[in-house]
This record gives sequence, structure tokens and C-alpha cells, in this order.
Amino acid sequence: MIKKCLFPAAGYGTRFLPATKSLPKEMLPIITKPLIHYGVEEAMEAGIRNMAIVTGRGKRALEDYFDISYELEHQIKGSSKEPLLKEIRHIQNSCVFTYIRQKEMKGLGDAILKGEPLIGQEPFAVILADDLCVNDNEGVIKQMTKVYNKYKCSVVAIMEVPQNETHKYGIVKPYEQEGNIIKIADMVEKPVDAPSNLAIIGRYILTPDIFDILRSIKAGVNGELQITDALKIQASEGRVLGYKFDGIRFDCGSIEGFVKATNYMYKKL
Ligand code: UTP
Repeated sequence: MIKKCLFPAAGYGTRFLPATKSLPKEMLPIITKPLIHYGVEEAMEAGIRNMAIVTGRGKRALEDYFDISYELEHQIKGSSKEPLLKEIRHIQNSCVFTYIRQKEMKGLGDAILKGEPLIGQEPFAVILADDLCVNDNEGVIKQMTKVYNKYKCSVVAIMEVPQNETHKYGIVKPYEQEGNIIKIADMVEKPVDAPSNLAIIGRYILTPDIFDILRSIKAGVNGELQITDALKIQASEGRVLGYKFDGIRFDCGSIEGFVKATNYMYKKL
């Protein structure tokens, strides 16, 4: 069973400057809830209660968000505004939050490796909160934990993207596909010549040997430690599955995706 979820949230979020100068990208709200709130809800739906967050300098707001805000709570207690805190209180009361800092932004792979002391030697989920995933039925991480429980190997969430956008993603080379499960032969981060149009998005289930692999590999594209390069090694041993999830994914790390997600959620209110 997957009990812990890692949230790499140390990135600079430069595409949202100047807002992200002093506000973590993961705290940008879609309507009234910050991106990270949606990610935590998705993990909770999958039965996960232990949230491990990799933060960095200037990310204090993340820790404060999941803590009690005594003054505010005292002020609005008993008023008509109190119900607005219901959802965040439910999260605070149900989950344990742990934090660790990534001191230098050396890439997603490095951020995941920095999370090792919070995860230990057990399989875990990873959510990139700037990828907002919504589904009317089961959330994406819940769907993926079911795949993990059956196959007991790493699982990456896969989405088809237009060929001219493959250079933005980690792209997999499939060798077999059965329904929505893809057996992966190889994968490449931000390819020039993409082996398919099957892109990895910000949801993973990882087996803990990934930490040793991350320690053993060198920086890849953009001089960053790439999680795709570590998964590639597991894939060469047949230990990674792609999962074409049910649901919609918004790239809230981009302005266009953020606006689309906002409009989508507003219509659902
Ligand atoms: P992005 O590629 O979106 O980078 O990271 P970014 O720095 O957050 O945003 P831009 O490109 O400057 O606008 C994908 C995810 O990996 C995390 C980010 O926080 C985000 O959730 N990340 C990335 C880290 O935690 N550490 C890193 O060194 C890099």
C-alpha cells in the first residue's frame, strides 16, 4: 500500500514572475484553493495521509498554509465565514506534513532525492502540484496506486501530446500496450527526435530503489538531475509501467494552462 506522497515544490516558478518572487508557485490559487491543496486532496483520496514536501528558500507560505492560523481562526470563529475553512481544517486534522529543503535547484530528480529522509525505504507517490489533474470519478493518484498494487513496480502517468510539443516533456518509447497500461522500453527527457507522442506528466509511483539510482546518475538535460534518466534505468529492467489515466490535466506551471484550469473550475462551481 502507498502511504506517503512526495511533493517537489522547490522550483523557482519563473514563468509566474513577478508573483513568484515572494510567493511559491504552488500557493497560486485556482479560485480559492492553492494548487498544492488540490494535490493534497488527490493524495488523500488515494488513502495517503503522510505528505512530504520538498521546499526551498522563500517557501514558508507552504508550511504556514497547512498549519493552524490562531489569530484568524479565533477572529472568525462562529461567524458566517467559518465554513470557508472547513476543507483546509479537514486536511490539517487528517494528515501529517513533513518538510525538507532543497538548497540548490538542481532539477526534479535532485528534489526527489532530497525527499529520501522523509520517505525511507517504501514505495511512494509523487505529485507535481503545478500539474492539476481532475476527474469526475477516481483521481489520478488513486488510479495509479491500483496499478502499483497489481504490478508492484514504478508507474508514470502518461498523456498523448501533439508531436510539436514532445520537446517539453519526458517521452516514453512503448513496446507493448494493453488497454491503458503501457510497457516501456525506454524514455527520453525533452527529446529532439521523440520516440512517440506519449508524455510523462506530474504523477508518479516510485519504488524506493529510485534513490540509489538517482545518486548514481549524472546531471542530464539543462544540467539538472532528471527523474526521467533514473526511470530509464528501471525501464531497461522492465520495472516501469506507463498508465494512460482517466481525467484532464492542466499545466498550471504555464500561464495558458493556469487560466484554462481557472475557467474550468469556475464553471464547475
Ligand atoms: P518546473 O520545470 O515547472 O520548474 O518544475 P519551475 O522552476 O517550478 O518553474 P519555471 O519553469 O521556472 O516556471 C517541475 C516541478 O519540479 C519542482 C518544481 O517545484 C515543480 O513542482 N522542482 C523543479 C523542484 O522541486 N526542484 C528543482 O530543482 C526543479
